[in-house]
Amino acid sequence: MTRGTVAVTGAAGFIGRWVVSELLDRGYTVRGLDDLSNGSRRNVAEFESAEEFELTVGDVAGRETVEELIDDDTDACIHLAAEIDVQESLDEPRTHFESNIVGTERVLEACRATETRLGLVGTCMVYDMVDSEEGIDEDHPVKPASPYAGTKLAAENLAESYYHGYDLPVKILRPFNTYGPFQKTGMAGGVVSIFTNRDIQGEPLKIFGDGTQTRDLMYVTDCARFIVDGTFSNAAIGEVINAGTGSDISINELAKLIATEGTEINHVEHHHPQSEVQKLLCNPEKANELLGWEPEVSLEEGVGRLREWLKEQQETA
Ligand SMILES: NC(=O)c1ccc[n+]([C@@H]2O[C@H](COP(=O)([O-])OP(=O)(O)OC[C@H]3O[C@@H](n4cnc5c(N)ncnc54)[C@H](O)[C@@H]3O)[C@@H](O)[C@H]2O)c1
Repeated sequence: MTRGTVAVTGAAGFIGRWVVSELLDRGYTVRGLDDLSNGSRRNVAEFESAEEFELTVGDVAGRETVEELIDDDTDACIHLAAEIDVQESLDEPRTHFESNIVGTERVLEACRATETRLGLVGTCMVYDMVDSEEGIDEDHPVKPASPYAGTKLAAENLAESYYHGYDLPVKILRPFNTYGPFQKTGMAGGVVSIFTNRDIQGEPLKIFGDGTQTRDLMYVTDCARFIVDGTFSNAAIGEVINAGTGSDISINELAKLIATEGTEINHVEHHHPQSEVQKLLCNPEKANELLGWEPEVSLEEGVGRLREWLKEQQETA
């Protein structure tokens, strides 16, 4: 007997892979969905022999696909599938609209039909910058500065309307910038993974703009635990909840932390300064109060783990 069945969209992506791992560890059966547009089967290869895990390759914007994923046997859905590249969203907003908004509507309708609780994974990129050290709490003003952020916020609004309109048990979970093993190391990845990989390769670390922009960087196992705790918490129903470490670091400081001897640090022109959020610092008090959640992995520790993992990947490649 497992504890129940959870549908995970975006299961073969970076965070999705760790959410699947956390759910399997806690004794759940997991049905994953991913179109492999940015995820890969390799990310979930170690789970594929487990009876408790299956992966369907398909589009979250496909109504029938999602109706097969979320049925009367599903106890919860964690919705992570999304287009995530800010620059791509500026170049070609339509795919972001299809996956992030239409896809969320499909998930909401399937959850409504089957009364399935939903953990909707939003993002800190919807917030306006903060200018204090108290950090961004859930009442902080939003400012979607790219179609990526705009579609993610629209998806949240839609989900909130299903909570108010249909009493659907929705939880809106907004992680701050997340890093760790299995994140891509090219432009579709995140800054910590890109820098660490370039440092291992002996390539210069390229900082977009002046590098004074800050990020609150969370290790991926802390993020996955937050998402699973948030999805199953009754206290979180109808709530928006942030998660981050509560401290931020400038990209200049991050580059210095990651660069080893001999690695150059360069500044290059920002691709999209208009869509940059200058200061992102999380106030994680609500996650702590409602879920008892707190981050466990420091930035130094997390970067060390990521570095080891990246080196192992290169040795076995
Ligand atoms: N990485 C971060 O720092 C971060 C921070 C906050 C929130 N998030 C959110 O977490 C979620 C996962 O992000 P990630 O960093 O793991 O990115 P990711 O790209 O690795 O994961 C997203 C997954 O969704 C899949 N996908 C995209 N469009 C799809 C579609 N139409 N149908 C089915 N699958 C589709 C991709 O193939 C990918 O595997 C996203 O919703 C993102 O907005 C990420």
